[in-house]
Amino acid sequence: MTGATGNVGRNVVDLLLRAGVDVRATSRNPESLDLPAAVDVRRADLTDPETFTQAFRGVEKVFLYNQPSAIEGVMAAAKAAGVRYAVLLSSLAAAGRDPDHWIARWHRATEYAIEQSGLSWTFVRPGAFAVNSLLWAPSVKEGRPVRLHYAHSYLSSIHERDIAEVSTCALLQEGHDGATYHITGGDSITQAEQLALIGQAIGRELAFEDITGDEARAELRARFGPRLQELIQDGVIGPTDPPGIIETRIRYYLEALDGPDEIDRTVEKILGKPARTFAEWAEDHKADFTN
Ligand SMILES: NC(=O)c1ccc[n+]([C@@H]2O[C@H](COP(=O)([O-])OP(=O)(O)OC[C@H]3O[C@@H](n4cnc5c(N)ncnc54)[C@H](OP(=O)(O)O)[C@@H]3O)[C@@H](O)[C@H]2O)c1
Repeated sequence: MTGATGNVGRNVVDLLLRAGVDVRATSRNPESLDLPAAVDVRRADLTDPETFTQAFRGVEKVFLYNQPSAIEGVMAAAKAAGVRYAVLLSSLAAAGRDPDHWIARWHRATEYAIEQSGLSWTFVRPGAFAVNSLLWAPSVKEGRPVRLHYAHSYLSSIHERDIAEVSTCALLQEGHDGATYHITGGDSITQAEQLALIGQAIGRELAFEDITGDEARAELRARFGPRLQELIQDGVIGPTDPPGIIETRIRYYLEALDGPDEIDRTVEKILGKPARTFAEWAEDHKADFTN
């Protein structure tokens, strides 16, 4: 398990343990991990393949968090250690609607290296995570209106538990070899409606401001600026790319004002039950929105 501390990976660890599987988890900071004692914890960093030489020893299947910068070396270490299967937490962006978008390129680079590695694989490509809404938690807790970018744009946000359950099926069951799963949440609703559902879960009506146009651009620049600088340093995007990246985000919001997306049934086909709705996510996370 790479990304074992992440929103998705932490849930995969729990599901694997519940299935009685031996789990080894890697982290860049293993001393800070808070995982059940049954988990074998090792230090490893996906940007430094040598750290996986030991960590892969005796491993049959690997769950990969997306980090393309040294993925060829990581996959070579996996192959050399006898790992035979990889499940990648990828992104719906890799599906090609906008193949030049940096998120698409970033995930496709990892997928491509896995395809070339000689291991069997499954790519799990979720759309927007419902946990992205945790960004609203500070405003909610402080009783301030939440600043929503294009509040009436629709999202089919997916519960991290559904992503984890699909990933766990791919790890534990036969029949997922070579599959690419595009998965979304159980409903397509506006961000304003999502916020209202969080309000219902915590028993409070929540106010919001609809932030659009140049005001949204400025906030997106402030929010994503440091991350985009990291990506420039890592060579994932070029130094002149950030303005275009912000514009693409604005364009996605504008397109998403048009109405709800058709609900994807892939989660239901794999798990035999419908994808969780945003209301279920809000109920599961109400503690994150209360003091
Ligand atoms: N948010 C979305 O809407 C969205 C949509 C589609 C796809 N995704 C994909 O999902 C990912 C986020 O998943 P998440 O929310 O579960 O993660 P998360 O909560 O952001 O946690 C990141 C995890 O990745 C691990 N990690 C980061 N850099 C690493 C490295 N260099 N080597 C090894 N491990 C590393 C971290 O482990 P340590 O810190 O313990 O090393 C941590 O467990 C995104 O990066 C993207 O690929 C996200």
